[in-house]
Amino acid sequence: MATKQEIMSLPITPVNKGEEVRFKNPPSAFFEAIGGEAGMRELMYDFYDKIYESEIAHFFPQDEEEFEKVKIKNSKFFIQICGGPKVYEEEAKGMDLNEYMIRVHDDFSINEKARIEWLGTMRDALAEKATHVDFALIREFWDYLESFSKLTVNTFADGSTYYAAYTQAKEEE
Ligand code: HEM
Repeated sequence: MATKQEIMSLPITPVNKGEEVRFKNPPSAFFEAIGGEAGMRELMYDFYDKIYESEIAHFFPQDEEEFEKVKIKNSKFFIQICGGPKVYEEEAKGMDLNEYMIRVHDDFSINEKARIEWLGTMRDALAEKATHVDFALIREFWDYLESFSKLTVNTFADGSTYYAAYTQAKEEE
């Protein structure tokens, strides 16, 4: 169990251009605790509904059918990355999921402000949909999002684009 206050206090640390990003995929225990595929879908649909009320809504398709497709793909990704069934395998065209995600985001000019808004929106969704999950597990899921999202930032104030080096920690670490 987690309180909304605990969830809302999850930290956001700044992206530092050039700094290596280390992250670990979320644990399957989080996937089970959120309620498996159905629970994950519920969390992600809520997240996307909030995205459309957020300052980064303009990044996403405005067409309802296209928006629906993004919701479905996004849910599938999170189901697989959290150790659930491999329902995103085909989308990723056989690539490592995280590698593929970095490429998907290359099509958009994502800066630190957009990343913070994305994370803040996810934190709101977790505060609404994940209070039945152990805070320690939410924390692990968050650590992945908070770190990995740094690799989606490809637009900096000085006009440069930079793709940070990264290391994915092994499961046992
Ligand atoms: C932990 C970080 C993030 C993860 C794991 C993630 C995950 C995803 C996934 C799974 C998709 C769907 C990909 C597909 O087409 O199959 C997606 C699309 C997208 N994401 Fe992210 N995302 C992250 C951060 C961000 C951030 C910070 C932004 C900032 C604006 C962002 C903007 C977008 C956009 C614009 C799309 C594409 C929508 C379209 O297809 O038109 N994402 N993301």
